[in-house]
Amino acid sequence: MRLDKYISHATDLSRADAKRLIKNGAVCIDDEIATNAGQKITEGQDVTVEGSTISKAKKRYFMLNKPAGIVSVTKDNHNPTAISLMYEHRSEELQIAGRLDIDTTGLLLITDDGQWNHRLTSPRSNCSKIYLVGLGEPVTPDYPEKLAAGVLLEGEKHRCMPATMATVDDHSLNLTIAEGKYHQVKRMFAALGNHVVSLHRFQVGDIILDPALEPGEYRPLTDAEVASIL
Ligand code: URA
Repeated sequence: MRLDKYISHATDLSRADAKRLIKNGAVCIDDEIATNAGQKITEGQDVTVEGSTISKAKKRYFMLNKPAGIVSVTKDNHNPTAISLMYEHRSEELQIAGRLDIDTTGLLLITDDGQWNHRLTSPRSNCSKIYLVGLGEPVTPDYPEKLAAGVLLEGEKHRCMPATMATVDDHSLNLTIAEGKYHQVKRMFAALGNHVVSLHRFQVGDIILDPALEPGEYRPLTDAEVASIL
């Protein structure tokens, strides 16, 4: 990576700041003063800025308590995006790991680590997601069996993977699914002759939505939470 880019990735400095510091002789590579902002930096080289060693930007991982009305894409011309709720440098590098519909609330994971995102969201990952589902019609006693057998969604050839549920009250339940098909939960309950009136995700794998986060708030994931996505 170019030296000026490397510095701006590893610090809060802009590329222009980095160039200025290089010009002023404030940047050293392996104890030699650097003069060329375009010089390529390879792994293992020691870069210092005004005497302090910097290291390459660490990957970032966040959980956001997504409110309704926010879209889970990085750019949208009509609605506010999840990323627009975050005050982070280089926000254009952030990606959403597992989207939620505009009206779905709860746990949204955001990162600039593409491999981590892939591990979480690839169809083969089978990472479990738990939703609190509010239904228009009452929960019926046959749901656990039907969900365990795999629901056939309209327009699909193959059944969903087995899902489990725990009844919360007449019209709501906690649903655990291992996939992330388009509008999956809404389509599953449509296939069961019901309809979803509210949907809130509160767990992905072992990562649980922090109850201290108000809708619209976010926090970095802990190292243990990041490591829990294998
Ligand atoms: N299933 C849905 O139908 N919507 C979501 O936002 C998430 C899962």
